[in-house]
This record gives sequence, C-alpha cells and structure tokens, in this order.
Amino acid sequence: MKRETKIIGQSVLISQLKQLALQVAETDITVLIIGETGSGKEVLARYIHAKSLRADKSFIPVNCGAIPAGILESELFGHEKGAFTGAVQSRKGYFESADRGTIFLDEIGEMPLETQVKFLRVIETGEFQRVGSSETIYSDARIIAATNKNMYQAVAEKNFREDLFYRLRSVELQIPPLRERGKDILLLAENFVHEFERKHKIVFEGFSPEAGEMLMRYPWPGNVRELRNLIESLLVLEKGTFITPEILEKHLVQRNRYKSLVHDPSKSEKNELQIIYSSIIQLRQEISDVRQLLQHIIQTRPHVPLLLPDTSAISGPVSTSMSRVAEENNVSHEAEVLHSLDDIEKKSIADALEICDGNKRKTAKALGITERTLYRKIKSYGL
Ligand SMILES: Nc1ncnc2c1ncn2[C@@H]1O[C@H](COP(=O)(O)OP(=O)(O)OP(=O)(O)O)[C@@H](O)[C@H]1O
Ligand SMILES: [Mg+2]
Repeated sequence: MKRETKIIGQSVLISQLKQLALQVAETDITVLIIGETGSGKEVLARYIHAKSLRADKSFIPVNCGAIPAGILESELFGHEKGAFTGAVQSRKGYFESADRGTIFLDEIGEMPLETQVKFLRVIETGEFQRVGSSETIYSDARIIAATNKNMYQAVAEKNFREDLFYRLRSVELQIPPLRERGKDILLLAENFVHEFERKHKIVFEGFSPEAGEMLMRYPWPGNVRELRNLIESLLVLEKGTFITPEILEKHLVQRNRYKSLVHDPSKSEKNELQIIYSSIIQLRQEISDVRQLLQHIIQTRPHVPLLLPDTSAISGPVSTSMSRVAEENNVSHEAEVLHSLDDIEKKSIADALEICDGNKRKTAKALGITERTLYRKIKSYGL
C-alpha cells in the first residue's frame, strides 16, 4: 500500500520546511531531520523521497533504536551464509536494498559506536562489506537520518562520533513541535476527522469554538501522532457527537493528565508560568549542552577549525537551518560564545527569580537545579 506523503500544514514554519524539503529533494545531499516524538520526521523523509528523482525506487525505513545492537550491522549491511550462528543463508542488507532509492535511518542517535564507523564510510564512499565477507559492495542509497535526541549531548558524552554527526547534518531540517504551528493544529484535526469518518463510517457533528480553542492551547507533548490518536478515539468513543470543552478535557486528561494546562481559564496565569518555566529549563539544558561540547572541542582539538552549532541549538527547535562552518578556532571567539551563553543563563535565572517573586526554593525547582547551585549562580552573576 502506498504510504501518505502529504505534509499537512500552512503555518509559516511548515511552509518554510516544505520549501527546504523540495530544495534538498532535487539533490542527493545527506539530510538530518530533528524533531520531537510524533512531530512527523518520517512523513518529512517520505516527502523528500517522493519529490526526488528516486521516487520510483525503494524508500527503506530502518529504526536504529528498535533493532538490537548485535544485529543492526547485519541488518544494515547484510551478511554471508555462516557469518554467525543462525546465518543459514546469505542476505542483503538495507543499504543494498535501498540502492538508487532512499534509506531512512530513524533514531540515528541509538546507533552503536562500532556501526557508526562503518556507516561513516558508507556515507563517504557508498562502500561497505556484508558481515562475514571481504568483498566490497557499492550502494547508491540516498541517506536521510532522524533523531529526537540532543545530538550535541550525545557527541559531548562520546556516544556519537563527532565526525559522523557533522557529516550527517550536511543539511539539518528541524520540525517544529505541533504546539508552535498555530492554526495548523485545527487543519490537521480536520484532516484526521475526515480520515476517521471514512474509516469508521461515522458522521462527526464537530467541535464547539471553545473546544477548538482548547485544541490550540494544549501543549501536545506527543505532537501530530497524539492529535491523530485523540481524534480517532474521540470519534469512535463519542460516536461522532458534538465535542464540547468538557468532553474534550475528559479525553485529554485521560490520556495525559494535563488537566491544569488545558482547562479553567482562571488558571491561565499559572499555565503561562508553567510554559515559561519549561522554556527556561529547556534553554538551560541547551546552554549546558553547547558549553560541554565547546569545552570538549577546546580541550581535545585546540588547533582544528571549530564547527559551531547553529544558533538554533540555543534559541530552540524552531528554526530550520543549514550547518555553518565558523572561521577560525581562536580563543577569543570561544570566550565570546561562552560569554554570551553566560548572559543567557544569567537572564534565565533573573527572569525565573522575578516570576517566583524571589523565592529561591521555587526558582531552583522551576529551573531544575538545586537550591545550592542557584545560590552559587546568584552570587557569581551578582544577581
Ligand atoms: N504534517 C503532517 N501531516 C499529516 N500527517 C502527519 C504530519 N506530521 C505527522 N503526521 C502523522 O503523525 C504521525 C506521526 O508521524 P511520524 O511517524 O512521521 O512522526 P515521527 O516524528 O517519525 O515520530 P517518532 O519520533 O515516534 O519516530 C503519523 O501518523 C503521521 O502520518
Ligand atoms: Mg519516526
């Protein structure tokens, strides 16, 4: 059965992403897709394949996180008969099967280090050997990889090869989380309603305007997949009846226990605070990831040109960007970057303190740090 390759969405972020996807589809360049769970990474990969000259060849999805580490290599590169216990026949790997088509390596951050070495060679030359064979095979597979992991952290912790990471992100496409796509939420909901009306032979009476607003306000931690699942269960369990905020809330709460975030406008101030807190925590994590990576590079490779992470790593997962190479790795440049990271951290702490009315315990909790660390930072930033 042919899979859906349509990307539903008219928001600026999604329109820009589609535009970039069309541009890269015309080439064979390696693409790294970054996005939260359920945000549509596979949909985007299929879209790129469908719009490319390889569209009539295979699209092979491989979930690197779901295949046990011990057999991933033989799955990817194939094996010869007798290469290991149980290899009763020789077998083609996914790279061979994807020849002239596209291989989609999902959860690339989960790829074991030994496999990463072999994979880097495939990206660079297209060459590899089946497990148990010394014959070199060539595959012209276009590579699209995806991750929902913080790859800077994986690189800093040495769980992912730095050279492979930079090679993979020749082009990096960031999928925005659903909560940042505005009216696309309703557009997607409408499409899913049509899909499930047909599938379950149900006539849906619609959402009240307040229920529609609730859909727009909800933070969608499971992104588009969560919205799709919600619409299907709403239609089936409520038998197509008109959806009020009360009914919708019942379903959302049952799924995620996000009661305080989706209901009761009197709590909207609290909701805003929670969103601000989580943004600060996220920002802090990103700053610390970038800092760790920079320190690692400074310590281990003092004379090598520095590949600076995009500013998107600091400003959040919204932007879509191509990788850039910074000019020279001189100490003043690094000091400048570290200095501006300090400024961001200082401002995050100052903002959090203000939101929490100076209450240190609450501020530390909101920032996800210990009170002792908070006191230390307040002192060192002179707050
Ligand atoms: N823009 C979109 N238009 C239509 N359907 C979408 C869109 N984005 C995602 N979906 C649907 O949402 C579901 C999740 O999408 P997909 O599997 O591509 O997400 P993912 O980011 O790969 O998730 P995971 O992190 O779990 O691997 C699928 O059913 C997909 O069809
Ligand atoms: Mg996926």
